[in-house]
Amino acid sequence: MDIKTYLSEQKQIVDAGLNTFMLEATGPFARHIEAMRYSLFAGGKRIRPILCLAAAEAITPSSEKATALLPVACALECIHTYSLIHDDLPALDDDELRRGKATNHVLYGEAQAILAGDSLLTWAFDLITNREHNTLTAEQLLDIVHIVSRAAGPLGMAGGQSLDIAYENTDYPFTTLQTIHKNKTGALITCSVQAGAIGAGASPEETAALIHYGEQIGLAFQIVDDLLDATSTTEQLGKSAGSDATRGKATYPAFFGIKLTRQKAQDAVAQAIEALKDFDKKADPLRDLAHYIYTRSN
Ligand code: IPE
Ligand code: IPE
Ligand code: MG
Ligand code: MG
Ligand code: MG
Repeated sequence: MDIKTYLSEQKQIVDAGLNTFMLEATGPFARHIEAMRYSLFAGGKRIRPILCLAAAEAITPSSEKATALLPVACALECIHTYSLIHDDLPALDDDELRRGKATNHVLYGEAQAILAGDSLLTWAFDLITNREHNTLTAEQLLDIVHIVSRAAGPLGMAGGQSLDIAYENTDYPFTTLQTIHKNKTGALITCSVQAGAIGAGASPEETAALIHYGEQIGLAFQIVDDLLDATSTTEQLGKSAGSDATRGKATYPAFFGIKLTRQKAQDAVAQAIEALKDFDKKADPLRDLAHYIYTRSN
């Protein structure tokens, strides 16, 4: 199956899950839930939940396992969407376009956008721990809650975002740039892959290889995001192109130039694929996803 077809089929599964698990915008909090739903259903690529399901499928091809992981996969998308709403706020990147639409704060105001983000983050853990939806064991769910909260928090995405802002318009060493990218973006991507491994009952060796794969594609993902910001158009991206240079962000193109940055992204993808060397063809979707992360156009 080619990657385009695979992505569109998996996206449908994730979107159906999100439709099932997400609250309806009714009752006293209707407007608040509407703001959450607005960004969640604005049309993201769903890469993190797709990676979670693909990692599980690389261990065991049972579609039951994938179904068991769907609430976790959807929770990862909720956390990712929260991170985008907050990333776009005037106090952070101050962006007005996301997923081809007005950003959450433009439509609902800053206070409501902050709260929509808060609730998407919190709802994610409600979803993971809700026994109504979940068939994973309590031990698997506990491990997943731990890695997901670690990846989203001060030692992961939020920490990385904090450095991203702190290092705007400053000189920084390469190690800082790496730390920013590995945390603001790599952490959630890595934990998406790891959650799939936990849900599928991967061995310690398989888990270690999948984590290494996740770290490398996580890094590649943000390097390519930086490249696209520098070389693509707003129409193509559905978010404002060129905003990194305007805001003086610490990025790979700013540090290395475009050509060397492309090489760095390719190297990370190659390392990710190398990490899967002991996996059979059930890991082909993960291999294809790694290539896609480099070749994607938005
Ligand atoms: C954008 O993520 C933000 C980064 C972490 C680079 P995506 O490129 O996955 O955004 P959507 O979900 O498809 O909109
Ligand atoms: C964002 O990085 C990483 C997040 C945790 C949201 P960017 O600021 O480069 O993401 P975009 O380009 O706005 O999507
Ligand atoms: Mg940002
Ligand atoms: Mg941004
Ligand atoms: Mg960016």
